[in-house]
Amino acid sequence: MENKKMVAKPEGKLAVLIPGLGAVSTTLMAGVELARQGKGAPIGSLTQMGTARLGKRTDGRTVKLNELVPLATLNDVVFGAWDIINEDAYQVAQRSGVLNDKHMEQVKPFLQGIKPKKGVHDGEFVRRIEANHAKATKTHRESIEAIRQDIRDFKKELNAKRAVMVVCSSVETFRPLPEAFQSLANFEKALDANSTDVNPTALYTYAALKEGVPFANATPNASVDTPALQELARQEGMPVAGRDLKSGQTMMKTVIAPALKARMLGLEGWFSTNILGNRDGEVLDDPQAFKAKEVTKSSVLDTILQPDLYPELYNKYSHKVSIHYYPPRGDAKEGWDNIDITGWLGYPMQIKINFLCRDSILAAPLVLDIALFLDLARRLEWRGIQEWMSFYFKSPMAHPGLPVEHDLFIQLTKLKNTLRVVAGEEPITHLGLDYYGDDLPLAR
Ligand SMILES: NC(=O)c1ccc[n+]([C@@H]2O[C@H](COP(=O)([O-])OP(=O)(O)OC[C@H]3O[C@@H](n4cnc5c(N)ncnc54)[C@H](O)[C@@H]3O)[C@@H](O)[C@H]2O)c1
Repeated sequence: MENKKMVAKPEGKLAVLIPGLGAVSTTLMAGVELARQGKGAPIGSLTQMGTARLGKRTDGRTVKLNELVPLATLNDVVFGAWDIINEDAYQVAQRSGVLNDKHMEQVKPFLQGIKPKKGVHDGEFVRRIEANHAKATKTHRESIEAIRQDIRDFKKELNAKRAVMVVCSSVETFRPLPEAFQSLANFEKALDANSTDVNPTALYTYAALKEGVPFANATPNASVDTPALQELARQEGMPVAGRDLKSGQTMMKTVIAPALKARMLGLEGWFSTNILGNRDGEVLDDPQAFKAKEVTKSSVLDTILQPDLYPELYNKYSHKVSIHYYPPRGDAKEGWDNIDITGWLGYPMQIKINFLCRDSILAAPLVLDIALFLDLARRLEWRGIQEWMSFYFKSPMAHPGLPVEHDLFIQLTKLKNTLRVVAGEEPITHLGLDYYGDDLPLAR
């Protein structure tokens, strides 16, 4: 293709900087190290295992995504983290109980070497955690300055040429988007006034963007998908992505709902419930924190099903989502979905899904991919919303005025086509008429 953009090669180390040294981030760190040692496969990661077909189906050209575009390799990835609890990554991983004893032993020295810097804490936003490792900063501006200094220190300590930030901290209590986030000017004023509307995640976001670090939000917290911080991302020329990883139940939802719509099957109701016993579940036990999750989990169905286009099928469905903190399960989340659907002549049918998953095992490879793709976007000098990364998020972003895309397979097509175009290859439409010559003539 003509429009190939030259992309700078990933030279040197890439620092993946993570506010929130919890179950997800330590599972990511351990997995990357195990994969480097050849003791574990990076299953679930498109950047490590995914491929793209190039050209026509008859060409027989399929390449790995990490050969199609220049991505940082696992050997070049180094980690830095912040947390409000003073535990190293090994202690956190041990407490989180995601990995088995053998894996824990194999990564022990590596994880012990990852110690968090002090986090920025606000007890109003995260209420279920006793912080013992929070910065002593008094104002938002001081906190931002301290995070920016940490970023510079991390880059030095880790000998990294480039950095990306992916927030993996606890879910913060939900608030309807305050005025402070409606524009960058408002946000700057709110920072100066030390406004209680500004959440810690937004401070990390602001600091990263100001420091020239691409940013993604793996949590449901208000961050880079607000007008104020999007404005900042464009101003600073930084690529951004978010919000909230699409790992388990919502991933299934964005597979099943498009299938129902594709077959023009109606929906009467969708009841989703989960039990979860890790610290994320404990934090989500706070109804105000759950509200943030509910918002990102609920937006999906309407956007996919388009009740305005198909009122007879999707006008009145009931959608319920709940998460229950149930300590015995730890990270082994169990989700149930009951889906009441209708078919020909309105006859009712049901689908039941019982997903026995592992929260952090599903989430870790997504964070890896997000980090590597953000770094690619930075080297392409792309800025602002990276819609092609919607694949990874429950509540993805699109340019203001554009409907977001939730369908997992459309998102995947978007992602792979973007990489094809970056590599100077043709995007693939799956049309396929041209294979049939005169049997299916295009023009008469
Ligand atoms: N696991 C999944 O499948 C999944 C899916 C979607 C989103 N997420 C989100 O990812 C995030 C991390 O999940 P987890 O299971 O690792 O949770 P976790 O509770 O194990 O880890 C979160 C960590 O963040 C720390 N923290 C809280 N506030 C902080 C702050 N201001 N600065 C620095 N650190 C802070 C906590 O002390 C904790 O160690 C959560 O927001 C969760 O909702 C997870």
